[in-house]
Amino acid sequence: MMTPIERIEKYKSKKNHVYAVEFSSNGEKKRAVLKDFNSIESKQQEIFYLQLLRDHNIKVPKILDQHDQMILLEYLAGELLLERIINLEERQIDPELPMVKEVFNQLLSWLGQFYRITENVLEKKMIFGDVNFRNFIINDHLYGFDFEDCREGSPEEDGGAICAHLLTYYPEYTSWKQKACGVLQSIMIEDFHYEKNRLEKATNYYLDIIKERRSIFKKK
Ligand SMILES: Nc1ncnc2c1ncn2[C@@H]1O[C@H](COP(=O)(O)OP(=O)(O)O)[C@@H](O)[C@H]1O
Ligand SMILES: [Mg+2]
Repeated sequence: MMTPIERIEKYKSKKNHVYAVEFSSNGEKKRAVLKDFNSIESKQQEIFYLQLLRDHNIKVPKILDQHDQMILLEYLAGELLLERIINLEERQIDPELPMVKEVFNQLLSWLGQFYRITENVLEKKMIFGDVNFRNFIINDHLYGFDFEDCREGSPEEDGGAICAHLLTYYPEYTSWKQKACGVLQSIMIEDFHYEKNRLEKATNYYLDIIKERRSIFKKK
């Protein structure tokens, strides 16, 4: 049963309703995140992955409570991956430097663990699906969440979507973003053994999708 809670902020969210909340536990005020899903199936899928990954020591927020279509999650302090990337670009940190490469490495390592565990358990090659940079938070470690779009596929599909997102966050296609994308792709290919042609194909595929989505949005 959910404890009485107070909503303090609504997060930017396309699919569901997600709030920062406060609740009392032993007389102390604690912060958490309340995720109110659009369907029970999405909620169940999220719980399945959160528990599975947590059982295998992969960094995900802890489930504190659940009720109806809602989950109460551990609040993760830190920055969104998107904020970190925007900040690195604003400071014009050379993407070849460890400070930038380390972020890419953390993201790809987290995904690598996701691929390994889900394949072992489900005996299918699963991908994360929605790799937008608001689905990862960095503090001491990188955490991932939002498992509604997990599906069968190959890592190069997530990889291509990551590259396409990186290039198209505003301001899009800057020289920093293009260089960062080049660095990211070489890490994917050399260190994580993504297949180059598949990765390039997937990147172009997702760039087209994003372009299409934005042109529809502008016409409205
Ligand atoms: N455990 C958490 N700790 C801190 N912030 C979170 C947490 N979970 C979600 N958020 C914030 O809420 C936003 C939306 O959450 P998300 O799970 O991605 O839902 P949606 O399916 O609506 O995208 C995230 O982009 C992030 O800013
Ligand atoms: Mg999300």
